[in-house]
Amino acid sequence: MAGVSAAAVAAGSGVPAGAGTPVGGAVPADPFQLGVASGDPEPHGVALWTRLAPRPLAEDGHGGMPSRPVHVHYEVAEDERFSRVVRRGRAVATPELAHSVHPEVEGLRPGREYFYRFRAGNEISPVGRTRTAPDTRAGVDSLSFAMASCQAWYHGHFTAYRHLAEEELDVVFFLGDYIYEYAINSGNLWREGVSLGPGHDAEVRTLEQYRLRYSLFKSDPHLQRAHARAPWVTTWDDHEVQNNYAGLNSQYGISREDFARQRAVAYRAYYENMPLRRKAIPRGPDMRLYRRMGWGRLADFHVLDTRQYRDNFPEDQAERTDPSRSILGAEQERWLVDGLRRSGSTWNVLAQQVVMAQIDRDMGPGKTFSMDQWDGFAANRDRVFDAVRRFGVDNLVVLSGDIHRHVAAELKADFTDPGSATIGSELVVTSVGSDGDGAPTDNYTDLWLSNPHVKFYDGRRGYVHCTMTPEQLSSRFKVVDHVRRDDTAPVSTVARFVTEAGTPGLKREG
Ligand SMILES: [Fe+2]
Repeated sequence: MAGVSAAAVAAGSGVPAGAGTPVGGAVPADPFQLGVASGDPEPHGVALWTRLAPRPLAEDGHGGMPSRPVHVHYEVAEDERFSRVVRRGRAVATPELAHSVHPEVEGLRPGREYFYRFRAGNEISPVGRTRTAPDTRAGVDSLSFAMASCQAWYHGHFTAYRHLAEEELDVVFFLGDYIYEYAINSGNLWREGVSLGPGHDAEVRTLEQYRLRYSLFKSDPHLQRAHARAPWVTTWDDHEVQNNYAGLNSQYGISREDFARQRAVAYRAYYENMPLRRKAIPRGPDMRLYRRMGWGRLADFHVLDTRQYRDNFPEDQAERTDPSRSILGAEQERWLVDGLRRSGSTWNVLAQQVVMAQIDRDMGPGKTFSMDQWDGFAANRDRVFDAVRRFGVDNLVVLSGDIHRHVAAELKADFTDPGSATIGSELVVTSVGSDGDGAPTDNYTDLWLSNPHVKFYDGRRGYVHCTMTPEQLSSRFKVVDHVRRDDTAPVSTVARFVTEAGTPGLKREG
């Protein structure tokens, strides 16, 4: 199985790697075309990211880089002009990790804004802005964050990111489907004004293909600006590997052994292209992505991975309530329940990928549920809700993506009884690009709204922007009215909800 040497990993994280391949030689011109990023902020540090690719769309997936390691220098400053540099360092970009680097900067001050940039040879990268989390015990007046998901580059322009990058932002949550693995050809290339070579017209299976796919999606300038604007906290869904996969089960007749190989290269390409800490480095087909981020005493964000450990699709609907079925896997479930139990924060947020609220998809007397979302793992959802009630976690907020629609829903102790207690709120963000232009209402509007705990639905592209204070969470659902033709659509707020701390549920304010 394709592995990554410890030396390559250490080098990319800015840790001295010891003896290895000699580093050096000329750096090809213009190597920062995939931009810069930062992620996973903590009170005293943040992870930085870049990946050298002078020819990002070279169809061999190597981005135009020679097959030798290269030094990448970075600096972090308190000001945009870099007159007050507070940290400098050097990492080694190796071909084993697609010439990506993930230096983890330490020794920063909590709750502060910083700027960073990279240098390779004589080439200087664009400047990124980032920030550290507040001190663990600090009171926090306000946190601004955005959520995004599902960026099928070929379905439209990333106009949503053009506007997201203009928002007040401390952090961005990306909730899955950063790439899609499908072949791209005239059938699905709806983004007007671009053309692609034949190398993209194949379903993605190999490491080189995944790398090329990240390069293609990351070539979007609005996505790059959004990364450069604030630190991102990312999790994945299915399309970073393959549609609707579950654990080591492909839905396309691939053996578990072969799919494990595919998952290994897909996870590796994911790590190479995201601003993740070295804790996330994959080992073969396994990668620890679930993690927690604290924001002072204001919030704990529990970032979940509902793909890697989930049980396979059941044979029939009745199995969905089988108590042995798990979407989190036993270890992650214990970790989550433990984190909820120990949290002393005002807000507890699950940042994750698939819809958690129960959604009956039969508008008649029958009942039909999606087996790809939490509905396919109802007992696991019950156990999480039980923990929320048992430990008095009274400000539960769930952030989700996946469905390419904006939805706001209340989470009920018993979804079949509208009078039962509301124990939290779910904000589902629409897609950035997937499904093209969309429309305010569509064939699924009535179905979703026929579930009484669903308070809002919109089928256009966009993002969600939230402002969180100790008193309330205010969420604005943003949309653009077209993405296929060009990237000029203005943004508008289609709905605004408020959740008061101590009073679970959603109040519509506009
Ligand atoms: Fe998606």
